[in-house]
This record gives sequence, C-alpha cells and structure tokens, in this order.
Amino acid sequence: MSKLVKIFDTTLRDGEQSPGATMNVAEKVRIAEQLEKLNVDIIEAGFPISSEGDFEAVKEISKKIKQSQVAALSRTNSKDIDRAWEAVKGAKYPLLHTFISTSDIHLKHQLKISKQEVIRIAGQSVARAKRYTPNVEFSAMDATRSDVEFLSAVCNAALQAGATTINIPDTVGYAIPSEFGELIQTLRQRLKGVEKVTLSVHCHNDLGLAVANSLAAIQNGARQIECTINGIGERAGNTSLEEMVMSLRTRKDLLGFHTRIIPRHIYTTSRLVSKITGMVIQPNKAVVGANAFAHESGIHQDGILKEKLTYEIMTPESVGIPKTSLVLGKLSGRHAFRERLKELGYRLPEADLERAFGRFKQLADKKRDIFDEDIESIVVEEILRMPHRFKLVYINVVAGNVTVPTATVQLEVDGKLIQEAGFGDGPVDATFKTIKKITRTRSHLLQFAINAITSGTEAQGEVTVRLEEKGQTVIGQGADTDVIVASAKAYINALNKIEFKKQKLVGM
Ligand code: KIV
Ligand code: ZN
Repeated sequence: MSKLVKIFDTTLRDGEQSPGATMNVAEKVRIAEQLEKLNVDIIEAGFPISSEGDFEAVKEISKKIKQSQVAALSRTNSKDIDRAWEAVKGAKYPLLHTFISTSDIHLKHQLKISKQEVIRIAGQSVARAKRYTPNVEFSAMDATRSDVEFLSAVCNAALQAGATTINIPDTVGYAIPSEFGELIQTLRQRLKGVEKVTLSVHCHNDLGLAVANSLAAIQNGARQIECTINGIGERAGNTSLEEMVMSLRTRKDLLGFHTRIIPRHIYTTSRLVSKITGMVIQPNKAVVGANAFAHESGIHQDGILKEKLTYEIMTPESVGIPKTSLVLGKLSGRHAFRERLKELGYRLPEADLERAFGRFKQLADKKRDIFDEDIESIVVEEILRMPHRFKLVYINVVAGNVTVPTATVQLEVDGKLIQEAGFGDGPVDATFKTIKKITRTRSHLLQFAINAITSGTEAQGEVTVRLEEKGQTVIGQGADTDVIVASAKAYINALNKIEFKKQKLVGM
C-alpha cells in the first residue's frame, strides 16, 4: 500500500465556517494561490449553492489553480450538484464532493428520512456527479456516531455508483484515536473495491483529538486527510494541516508516511489565513504559534545554545519562519518593496502594487522601521479587502480627562458621503457609536482586542473586534499607527462582513 498521504485542504469551506471567519472572493483566491504553492493535493474552494459569493469564489479559484485539484461541496440533491459543477467545471482538475448524514441522530432529527432512502440517495447523487466528472468524493456525515453496518451500506452504494474517494467524517469530534482507527479497519474490510479508491478522513477537534484521530486513521489505511490551515473550522475547528504534515514528517522514522506539502511555505500560509480571517493564532499553537520555537527556561536555553537538537524536534526554518522580520524603511524604493512582497508570497498586478506602495510610503513617514507584519497588513487592508457598503473617509476624535470624548466620522455608504458626530464613554465608544449611527446597523460588540503588530511604541496597533447580529458573528480587523483609527477600520471591516454574510442562502 502506498505511503503517500493526500492533503485535502478545506480552509476555504469548513475553515470559513469558523465563527466570524467570513472571506470575500479576492481573499479566497489569494489563499487558494498560497495553498497551491504549499502544494496541497486538493483545495476545497467552497459550497457553491450556499451563496453567490461562494459560487463566484469557486469559479474564480477554478480558473486560477492549475496544479491542485479544486473541489466544490454539495448536498445530495440534483440542484446542489448541478450548481457545484457549474462553479467548478472550469478547473483543470475538478472534484465534486457530495455528502449526506448517516447517524441515527441526524436521520431522526434532521433529515427525517429512512435508512433505505439514504442508501438510495447516496448512490443516486454520486451517479449524478459522475455524469459531470470522473472525480467524485462521497462523505458520510456524522460517520463516527453511525451504525457501522448502515455506514458500510451507504458507502458501498456510493462506491458502486463510482465514487473515487470515500470520506469518513468525525463531524462532531466525538471519536477516540483507537476507536477511529478500528472503524477505518472495519470499513476497509466491508467496502467492496475499497482498494481501488482513496479512503479519506475529516476530523473535527471538539475534544482536541483531530490530529491524533487522523494519524490513527492513516495507520489503519486512510490515505487522505482533510484539514485546514491553523486548524480553523466549525466550532473547535478541524485537523490542523501544519500539525498533521509536521507530525508525519518529524516521525517518518516511526510512521513511514509522506505528503507532497512543501513545509517551508507553512508559516506564510498560516499568517495569511490568520490575517485574512481575523482568527488570531494562539501563542502556544503547535508549529506556527509565536512561542512554538521560543525557549524560556535557562536549562532549555543552555541546551539550545550548545546543540539545537537538545530541545528542538524540528527547526523553525523548516516551516519557513524567518530569522528576522525587519525589512524596509522610508528610503526603500519600489523595487525593494516589490521584492519583499514576492518573498512574502504576494505577486500583485502593477496597479495594486502602486496602491500598496503608496500606503507603504505613508506608513514609513510615521514609522521608522517597516516589518513584514506591516507589509502584510497593507496588502490585506488595501488590496484584498474590497470595500463593500461602508468605507472610512475621515475620522477626528477629541478625548482626554477634561473633555467629553467626541468623534466626527465621515463614511462612504453605498458610494454616498455621510458625516456624523457623536459622544461616548471613551474615544473608541464615541467612534463606534458614531459609525453605528451613520450605518444604521444593529450589531452588538462581543469582543474588542488591541495588539501591537510589532515591537516599539511607534508600532501599528492591530484591533480585532467580534460583532454579533441576529446570531451571526463576524471578526473585523484594522491596523494603524493611531489605535482609534485602527478601531474604526476594524469596526467597519466587521460591518462589511455582516453585510456580505447576509447574502448566504444556505447554512451548513
Ligand atoms: O464535518 C463534516 O461532516 C463535513 C462534511 C461536509 C464533510 O464538513
Ligand atoms: Zn466538517
């Protein structure tokens, strides 16, 4: 049996289901290009029936991506499958991915159909997808809480209809590694012709076991892992791509498996996804967290200075963590800026480069040293983040301990300039209240966090806000050397995401 494990990345589909992590088409395309550079085998680009935005994103990604396969998700009905194909048909290597639940709990409370119906629908939907492409994946949702005999029957129906990948999701992150490994073994024995198709797993991280379960599955015959960058995804997220790949690589001695991933692109990809989604990476996150290679104890530092192997099982360079991020300053020219962008993985068209360079020059007037993190902020805020309904034009805030904090804000709302002033408990409160007045929005602020992007008092402040409206949450981010301006940008970014989310037609 081959020792190659395929990496199916679902950052753009399941990852986007993380509370708050909405992405627009340009942002998704940028991430897809980076995933291709990372060399993932499959990019799940979206769920086309769910919204116009998802449809467009899958279509655009399908046009751009030439090496990785591009997958589009659909439920098991003709309308979904047809729409998914419409979106993905332009891809060089398209994949249709269709799913239905198999657990008693889902059948009784959600689908309200019989087991016989599910078996019939599974076969029928794979057959319909096969009319479009030979490359079809079938997923049995909530597989780990399903009766194994029934699960086998559904998967057999999908296999018989021509599915080329059978995916076993641990949808609610319920499985324990030994149990999940055994399930994969059992399925390998029960599925007719399984040796001719790829057995895949898709694990959620509700008990913190997604990577462990995926490893157990590989040891028991699975050869495709569905995962996301930084482990983002529904609820507690999915198997983390970087943890999975580096586990296989670091313990090749024991496990003997390999992937096609180019690990030195992991760090840039992780930062890009974090920046675009607004999902901050916890410092102690394995492989890509700020502390992943930081040695604090004296004994550890002593060991590292003598020989890195004493306390390091992989090197930061192997996952692409740069030694220093100090890059440019006021005197740096266009050429240096373009080169640095390229090194960070951004290839911008000339017009966008000019815009980004203009913003870089403005920043360099306020701040002596421009770091990689500053450049990433410029690209995400100025280029990728397309203004939707609301755009900040002007903000002036008066605050202090002898005045009532007052904000005067001018926004462009659907192309029309609107100006308002308002008071608040503090400068941020005054700013948010005034923006709310202009935009006539009704969201609630759930969280407000401010971080310095880099070190030093002149560093840009990066504000992250989490807003909620009618049960939907979004994350907004903004960066500026003035933290009130950064707060306004973050708030407006979040409001734009809420507007974007309103276009979603079908939730998962
Ligand atoms: O978690 C899940 O079951 C899914 C399927 C659609 C594969 O995301
Ligand atoms: Zn999932």
